[in-house]
Order: sequence, then structure tokens, then C-alpha cells
Amino acid sequence: MSDLPSVLQRLDSDARADADWGQVAQYIPQLAQVDPAQFAISVALADGSLHEAGACEVPFSVQSITKVFTLAIALGRSGDQLWTRVGREPSGRAFNSIVQLEQEAGRPRNPFINAGAIVTTDEVLGARAPREALAEIIRFVRTAAGSDDIHINEAVAASETAYGHRNFALAHFLAAHDNLRNTPEKALGTYFHHCALEMTTSQLAMAGRFLLDAPGMPHLVSPRRIRRLNALMLTCGHYDGSGDFAYRVGIPGKSGVGGGILAIVPGQASIAVWSPGLNRYGNSHKGTEALAKLTSEMDWSIF
Ligand code: DON
Repeated sequence: MSDLPSVLQRLDSDARADADWGQVAQYIPQLAQVDPAQFAISVALADGSLHEAGACEVPFSVQSITKVFTLAIALGRSGDQLWTRVGREPSGRAFNSIVQLEQEAGRPRNPFINAGAIVTTDEVLGARAPREALAEIIRFVRTAAGSDDIHINEAVAASETAYGHRNFALAHFLAAHDNLRNTPEKALGTYFHHCALEMTTSQLAMAGRFLLDAPGMPHLVSPRRIRRLNALMLTCGHYDGSGDFAYRVGIPGKSGVGGGILAIVPGQASIAVWSPGLNRYGNSHKGTEALAKLTSEMDWSIF
């Protein structure tokens, strides 16, 4: 096995040497302004150490990565009842696809595509005010990360609200099929705000340790639930790119359209990588490349 700190340094210099940074997300105006030429990687090991390279102190919009945390909270609140409203199968479609939701009568394929995450957020919301649900989500993430310096970027949330036509379409479809307890506006307001959480890769790698099931890690969910969350990340965490990610990287991961990826080597390491330019699936281009190299160099795989 290679030496982790020197592998990370090499990944950082390789990323900077290659001029193809991919394209930043265009449909959220605040994210469209981010400089694509940025890279950071942090690895939190089960022995408590943190290893990193690149811009690991720069906060970025974690977006869909928060769906892992909200799913953990929703399962904690309602248990298996969530699965009457959302499936557990890969969708084979883009994260914001509308067509499947109509074909499948308003029951989203999984909790990581947008439709499924809106239902999951609705479950976390319950009968509460959005402020209370968001406070719980932020508390969970801060506890997992061991850092209170994690905040929602209101400008990003507002920007997505103003241009979130596809998500409004999805939420109204869900409501038409009686699969929303709250109004589309309330569920989406909460969803857009948790997506707008910002973290550095250092904080995100630390926060991902709750998915490790190893001694000394933040104990926020049961070992059985940790295995299940990881199973969903492997099969659905990269949308229609999930098969390719499993093939190339070989471990569970969850991407966000801000260019972050959280990836887990069960029992061993929580990895956060960030580079805002995306590939054709809407997942970080250089982040995916770096993870493929990292797992191969470190001989990390669940297979
Ligand atoms: O709802 C959206 O479209 C965004 N808030 C989150 C999407 C996302 O991060 C997709 N991931 N690659």
C-alpha cells in the first residue's frame, strides 16, 4: 500500500496540471459563478488522523451530499415507513428527471434523486416549521463533523428557489400523487436550504466518519443502518453514473452538483473531494478521477 500523504500531494498536482476542469453547474446562478479551477481532497482515517491536499479550507456548496445526512435523519425519525413513499432502486436517469416520476405514479425510485430527496425532506419536516427541521439537520452535520463552523449559504438557497422550476415540477407531481405532507413550497424551501449548506473538504471528510462503523467514530446511527446507507450510496449515489463510479472507484459515494463527493471505505476511511467542474452525469469531473486513482493506489475497494 502506498503512503497516503504523498499520494494526496500527487493527486493535487495531477489535478492542477490537467487543463480540462469540466463545466460548473449552470442551472443555479450562484453556482455558475464558481471558478472551476479548484481542487481539494481530505481523508479522515478510522485511526483519527486527517490527511489532505489542495484547497481543503475553502467552503463549497455541498448540495446533494446533504441527502445522505437527511436520509439518516428521516430513517431515525420514521424508520422503514419512509420506504412506503420512496424506493431503493437505482434510477438510471438524471438526478432531476421528471419522466420516471410520472410513469411510477409519484413514488420516486430512491432517496438520492431529487424527487426522492424532496420526499425525504418532507419526512424530516413532518409537522414542524422548516426552521426546526433545518436546525436538526445542521446539528446532525455539525456533530458528525465535530465543527460548529458549518452554515447555510442563503444566497445559494435563494438562487435555487428563483430558478428551481424542475424541482417545483417534481414537488407538484409528488403532491398530485398524495406523496407530500407539506406544501411544495414548504418542502422545497427546506430542501433548497439544506442543499445550500457549505463545508470544506476537511469538514466533510470528518462528517462522513459517522458512516464508518469503527471505534472512536461519531455514533449517530446504528451499524445496520450504516451498512444500508452505504448500500444506497453505492447503488444510487451518482445517479445514472452510479455503475461507472462503482466500476472505477469501487466504494460507496455521494456526489453534489457543487462538485463535492463524499466516499466511504467501510471501517477505514471517509474521503471528501471537491472540484466544481462536472462530468456529463453532473458529478465532479476531477473529483471522480482523483477518487479512482486514490482507491487504486491505496488498494481500497469493497469488492
Ligand atoms: O435540487 C437540485 O438540483 C440541487 N439542489 C442538488 C442536485 C445535486 O447536487 C445533484 N448532484 N450531483
